[in-house]
Parts: sequence; C-alpha cells; structure tokens
Amino acid sequence: MKIIAYGIREDEKPYVAEWQEQHPDVQVKIVEELLLDSTVDQAEGFDGVVAYQQAPYTDNVLKTLAGYGIHYLSLRNVGVDNLNPVAVKENDFKITNVPVYSPAAIAEFSVTQLMNLLRRTKEYFRKFDRRDYRWAPEISQELNQQVVGVIGTGHIGQVAIDIYKGFGAKVIAYDKFHNPELEKEGLYVDSLDELFAQATVVTLHIPLFPETENMLNKEAFDKMNDGVFIVNASRGPLIDEKALIDALDSGKVAGAALDVLVDETKVFNHNMAGKNMDYPEFWNLESRGNVLISPHTAFYTNVAVENMVKQSLDANLSLIQTGASDHEVKFN
Ligand code: COI
Repeated sequence: MKIIAYGIREDEKPYVAEWQEQHPDVQVKIVEELLLDSTVDQAEGFDGVVAYQQAPYTDNVLKTLAGYGIHYLSLRNVGVDNLNPVAVKENDFKITNVPVYSPAAIAEFSVTQLMNLLRRTKEYFRKFDRRDYRWAPEISQELNQQVVGVIGTGHIGQVAIDIYKGFGAKVIAYDKFHNPELEKEGLYVDSLDELFAQATVVTLHIPLFPETENMLNKEAFDKMNDGVFIVNASRGPLIDEKALIDALDSGKVAGAALDVLVDETKVFNHNMAGKNMDYPEFWNLESRGNVLISPHTAFYTNVAVENMVKQSLDANLSLIQTGASDHEVKFN
C-alpha cells in the first residue's frame, strides 16, 4: 500500500515518521509541495493521497488523480470548502477529513483573542512601544459582564461555551442543530436576530457554506448592540469585510478578532516581508488598535498537528483497505 502526503511541513514530519513506524507495511511518500496541477503527477502509482492546503483542489487535480486510478483523498484538516463537490462526485472520490483534531485549540484561541480585545492589549502594547505608560483612555471591559453569542455549537463551539461559562459570562447560542445538553441548559435562542439583539460578543464557530457566506453583513451588524465585539476563527468569508469596516467606523463594532480573512490564501502562512500586498481591507483592519488579525493560527498546536497527521493517514489507509472510513465527508 502506498500513500502520498502532499504539503507536509517540517513540524508534521516527526508525526508522519511515528505513524510510519507503526505501519511498516505502508509506504508513505512525503512531498513538501501542495497538491496542484503542477505537482499532481507525483501521485501516479499511489493508492491514496493525503493533503492539507488552503488553496483550492482544482477540478483538474481530481480528474488527473482519477485517471491514475486514485479515488481516495484524505484531508488533514476539517474544512472541505476548497473542494468542488461536483468534481468530487464526477471523479468518484471518497474524501475524508479530520473532524475533531483539537476543538480546544481553536476554542482557547478564540477566547484568548476576545480577552485581548476586552483588555485592549494591542492598544496598550502600541502605547508601550512609544514609552507612553498612561492608563487612560483605554479602559477595559470584563469578560464576566458579557453576553457571549456563540454561533455554531459543534465540537469547537461547545468547548468555547464551557470556557466562557467558566469565566462567568452569560452564554447564548444559535445553531440549526441543537445539542441536547445545551438545550437542557436553555442556551439556545430561536433565531440569529435574537442572538444579535442580546449579545455583546458574537463569536463564529460554523463552517463556510453558500448559505453562511457573508452571514455577518451590513444587515446583521445593524441588528447588533452598539459596541459589540466580533470573533472569527472559522472562515473569512463568513464576514463581509467592507461591512465590518463600516461598522468599526461607526462604533457599532467595538473590536474584532479575526484569525481568518476573505482573501487570506494570498497572505497567510507566507513570509510577506518586503512584498507588495494588494489587499486594502487587510491594511485597513490591520491599522486599527481594536482589530486583532492573526494568520489562521488558532488550530496550530502540537496536539492538533499530531492528530491531523495521524488521523488523516489512518483514514486514508482505511479507505484503501476497506473502501470506507468513519471520517468520510458526504457532499450533497
Ligand atoms: C481547518 O481545519 O479547516 C482549519 O481551518 C485549520 C487549517 C488552517 C489547518
């Protein structure tokens, strides 16, 4: 059995090696490049492909793999929004993801960034760099006083809720699918509008689908409380960035923590030092003391990376051996 693993970073290599030791009958070929039209030919002769990238998996890549007789693609991450469902079906692919590599990694990061917003750390650090050590006017807010509106109560949302409750915040939640435990606690509101009306913090923990794109747009911001805080460690296109900029300008939004951006693949996880970045919304948001941008790092912990590598290889092997995996993603 032969698996080719694309886009493998240095920090992933030890985990591939550990997995390989436990599976001596499987040959895993490591490729540092991403799975692109220009690199797909390296997969010829393999039984399955493991990959992680934010760039799209092109229709041509899937077609070429299928032409080599490869129909098993295991992603090392959870989101599948960079795959075209039509091409997946047309080329008869089975796709797996790693649905629960570490919900805590993302939930803890989201909470950390909200606390940074509430305590205005970016503004204080900027002043500190200018040797301005005065307190005012950056008075902070306390987390225990917030009404945190959690949108999406899957694995990550649930951990975030537990942490917020631990800090004494009031939590309300919205999801199309209700978790029975949270239901019993009476955390759910019936509509997004209701959540927007009550929340002093709105935090996103949902996938990107056509129906969730631009979920936070002008109309949504208009319905929120003045001075609301926004946290997004899910997917950039859930927020209309121009509408967010307007809402920051008007003071409707008091601060935003963004681990993801609409056009992040142009910039995140690249060294952009000295390079031109044609991304006006990024520069606008980045210049603000009350906006925290991080380069999609919420997931990036030792626990998460180990699980991403090992569970994706497990899933790919299972597909190769049995044609099935518990982590198969069904596309509608
Ligand atoms: C995902 O798992 O889909 C993520 O968003 C994390 C990714 C950057 C590895």
